[in-house]
Amino acid sequence: MRDSPVLVTCGLPYTNGPCHIGHLRTYVPADFYVRYLRRSGEKVVFICGSDNHGTPIVVNAERDGVTPRALSERYHIHFDQTFRRMGVLFDHFGMTDNPVNHHRTQSLVNRLIANGHVYSRVIQQSYCTKCGRFLPDRYVEGICPHCGSPARGDECDQGCGRHLEPGEIKEPTCMVCGTKAGFRDQEHYFFRLSEFKEFLLGYLEGLSGTLNARNYAMGWVKDELRDWCITRTLDWGVKFPGRDDLVVYVWVDAPIGYISFTEEWADETGVSWKDYWCREPTAITHFIGGDIIYHHCIFWPALLKGAGYGTPHAVVASGMLKVDGHKFSKSRGYVVWTNDDYLDKGLPADYLRYYLLSYTNHTKELNFSWKVFQERVNNELVNTLGNFVYRTLYFAHKEFGGVPDVPVRKEIVAEIDRSLAAIDRSMQEYEFKTAIDSMMGLAAYGNNYIQASAPWKLIKTDRDAAARVIKDCLILVQALALIFEPVIPEAAQEIWQMLGNADRIEDHQISGATGDVPPGPLPPPRPVFSKLEDAFIAEMDELLAKRVKEAGKKATKMKTIPFEEFCKLDIRTGKVISAEKVPKSNKLLKLRVDIGDEIRQIVAGMAEFTTPEEITGKPVVVVANLQPAKIFGIESNGMILAAGEQASLLMPEKEVPPGTKIR
Ligand code: MF3
Ligand code: ZN
Repeated sequence: MRDSPVLVTCGLPYTNGPCHIGHLRTYVPADFYVRYLRRSGEKVVFICGSDNHGTPIVVNAERDGVTPRALSERYHIHFDQTFRRMGVLFDHFGMTDNPVNHHRTQSLVNRLIANGHVYSRVIQQSYCTKCGRFLPDRYVEGICPHCGSPARGDECDQGCGRHLEPGEIKEPTCMVCGTKAGFRDQEHYFFRLSEFKEFLLGYLEGLSGTLNARNYAMGWVKDELRDWCITRTLDWGVKFPGRDDLVVYVWVDAPIGYISFTEEWADETGVSWKDYWCREPTAITHFIGGDIIYHHCIFWPALLKGAGYGTPHAVVASGMLKVDGHKFSKSRGYVVWTNDDYLDKGLPADYLRYYLLSYTNHTKELNFSWKVFQERVNNELVNTLGNFVYRTLYFAHKEFGGVPDVPVRKEIVAEIDRSLAAIDRSMQEYEFKTAIDSMMGLAAYGNNYIQASAPWKLIKTDRDAAARVIKDCLILVQALALIFEPVIPEAAQEIWQMLGNADRIEDHQISGATGDVPPGPLPPPRPVFSKLEDAFIAEMDELLAKRVKEAGKKATKMKTIPFEEFCKLDIRTGKVISAEKVPKSNKLLKLRVDIGDEIRQIVAGMAEFTTPEEITGKPVVVVANLQPAKIFGIESNGMILAAGEQASLLMPEKEVPPGTKIR
């Protein structure tokens, strides 16, 4: 047991879209871990909440015609309910926009200011003159200054993955009106992150959790630590103390939510939140997605340290998620929605929990495919675990009316003890898959044992020996219910009841796994898992394929431009007056074109498809206001429009004079 009370948190979901399997990749293991600690006798508080601030939520709310608060409340309720349906049970699920978090954030920022960790500086921020506003974070897109890839205002999401500071993005475009943005001077506040280098190196050295978190963060700290702009020009968010026109950056008030949600919970429970946050060492463990390691292992501990709070003990970061072998992507359709695609189809939360936990190591890439899902459920949950449990209970009920009054073999107890030790070792190292392999290993052991001992044969010759075999199996079933509870809580509760218990399995500890199953009657058993049928899986695969196809169609739709942009084009009819080949080029023709008020020289790549004789005298369509260009050293003042591989000339259907505007 540790001396500080244990606190486990999960990264807070943004309230701008529904829960999907990518979220679950973090929340299910966190819930599993918390349940395991509790079943091992630890007192744990499990805290999460929704992340309500930041530009994506403002942008989406604007699009839906609701307030950011209303949008946040809608998705807040959605996440709260979905997590419960998945058996992910937080002690408290707060909102970062609630008053406690506004207060805690301002108090923490004030302490940073008082401790000299914040300074102000005038920077050049992206600004849209047309909309008349500054363009924070997602309001702007452009080019990454580090790698040259297309990037969002606050992150290079398609290239090097770097976090971008306000004003850093090159060639900014306003996401609201689509026009080129400029830069304007504005005063912002910076956190002196660069001064935390030594602290962070030492801190990360001792950070527990998964190695990916520690090692990535260590690399970044050794590489470069730049001061961090912690304010944004936005209405929605927590006001920066003393400045009505600025809010703090969402990545400041979101993790502070971990503290304020603990406060809210502690208030209701009558304990002190300071026991969790205001001493060293803490016993705080953060479960997060692998994409937010930087925020949790660098920004966050530095903020806490700078404001005089305790720092997290462990960061557990999950690996990437794929859907059918493709990178998880909502926009490209590679997504599984927790409610629509899973729970609402009547699928048990336990099956998905088992898949997510047992597929691979927590830090590795996890692929979700319906076919593999079916295989794992049918082979492991149904055929191995479910089969052993059902055979045992069925036989005990049928032949003995319940639990026979005989002793248990020592080797069975020893086998269970070995499993418990192996599971515990894996759990200490955050090796969740290995822990579950040990659990399933015990189920396989039980299956082999009942198969080899064949009590259904034994009963005909030696009733007492059959009773002993089945008693051994019943002990194994009890152990399996207890060790599997953190993985598949619903099924574990059902097995628990079929073992004759009337109470909640959660009120028991894993150490009870080797305890006796008292003799007495048992209710008739039913199978706890059922096979997933091929037809159903095919249906789900089809649904996914359809979604990917539709997403593809949407993506190829052209990016729209406002009408004013189109009006800038001067497209008009013309007539070719003369044409000649450009010497030494087999592609180019030099044309003289009558465009109404003047004769233009235009170079066109048409020599392969037509001759000077053929084209002379033809009506054409010309873009008249293209910037002049030199092609093969010859000035070209416009462009002739043609379609397709063979450069088929566009021309008016009825005759119109040269220079007629095209609209
Ligand atoms: N909303 C963020 C995301 O989805 C996570 C916030 S975690 C916290 O990436 F630490 F900021 F709370
Ligand atoms: Zn604009």
